[in-house]
Amino acid sequence: MRLKIIGTGSYLPEKIATNDHMAQLVETNDEWISTRTGIKQRHLVSSPEENTTYMAIQAAKKALADSGLQAEDIDVILVATVSSDYVTPSTACMVQKELGASHAVSFDINAACAGFLFGLNTVDAYFRCGVYQTALIIGVETLSKIVDWSDRSTCVLFGDGAGAVIAKADESGMIACLQGSDGTHAEVLSCKARSNNNPYISTDKNLDYVFMNGQEVFKFAVRKVPECLNLLLEQANLTLEDVDYYLLHQANYRILTSIAKKLHLPMDKFPSNVDRCGNTSAASIPILLDELNHKGVLKEGSILFLSGFGAGLTWGAALLKW
Ligand code: COA
Repeated sequence: MRLKIIGTGSYLPEKIATNDHMAQLVETNDEWISTRTGIKQRHLVSSPEENTTYMAIQAAKKALADSGLQAEDIDVILVATVSSDYVTPSTACMVQKELGASHAVSFDINAACAGFLFGLNTVDAYFRCGVYQTALIIGVETLSKIVDWSDRSTCVLFGDGAGAVIAKADESGMIACLQGSDGTHAEVLSCKARSNNNPYISTDKNLDYVFMNGQEVFKFAVRKVPECLNLLLEQANLTLEDVDYYLLHQANYRILTSIAKKLHLPMDKFPSNVDRCGNTSAASIPILLDELNHKGVLKEGSILFLSGFGAGLTWGAALLKW
């Protein structure tokens, strides 16, 4: 049995911050942001209640309704996030409680922008082993709470939001998938958690924010995604032409165009919402999937290539039949 997606849902905060809004906060402008990243606006949370947990729950409820399953039918809930509201319990446990998914085992995955792909890989492995038959996989981020709003090189890039899918064990669906990581480049993209703090060690009171070496991440993504694609196509005995859509992590439109160029593929094979949502990290692929699903772009039998890449460094990819 393999992973088959049978429902999608997403949540984007109502509050929209345009590039002109960014220009009121830091020394930047619409022209710089648009040409370097393709981003025109991002959604940002705008109340204490609208947090990571809330967004995850909203996306999950929509995905559940779309799938026709009930919360009690779900065997496993995985939430990919680096911006939980609690150190513990996990966001997945909070979602479980709110949905009343009383039979599910629930835990979070920390793999940054590759997190949703790590979720798909993990669930597919569970399904192949026959451990579970149904899953809720969520990518959710409130990166706006961990970016430095005075650092123009990072704050303009990210947005908040959540995307979710319901998957069931089926004869078809996942064709091939992979995941990977390389901790030797951990410093390229990072954000420190709390420092040591006990009676014997002095505390660093300064909270850390996202740090990124943008050019290194750019090069990594443009090299790694085609590498993953070729491995999966070979494994599945498929070619580039067999793939209907390439749904990549929505970090930056220039990354998408560079990858398309490298593969000699037209941009209409690379749907994108980065102009409207910015980089929503683990949430970007499930938000895009939900958008395309509800627009009717994805047809039964469509072959999709999904790929996420980000801090860790981490990467994940999947070839799947819709
Ligand atoms: N507005 C105006 N100028 C800005 C700016 C902003 N928001 N951010 C940075 N700059 C300036 C820099 O200060 C620098 O100025 P200087 O030459 O006077 O020092 C100049 O623009 C060039 O900076 P640089 O970092 O070299 O730009 P870049 O061409 O590499 O573009 C990114 C920066 C972040 C857009 C680009 O590296 C990128 O897209 N990287 C991938 C990042 C990503 O997607 N990460 C998430 C992956 S999960």
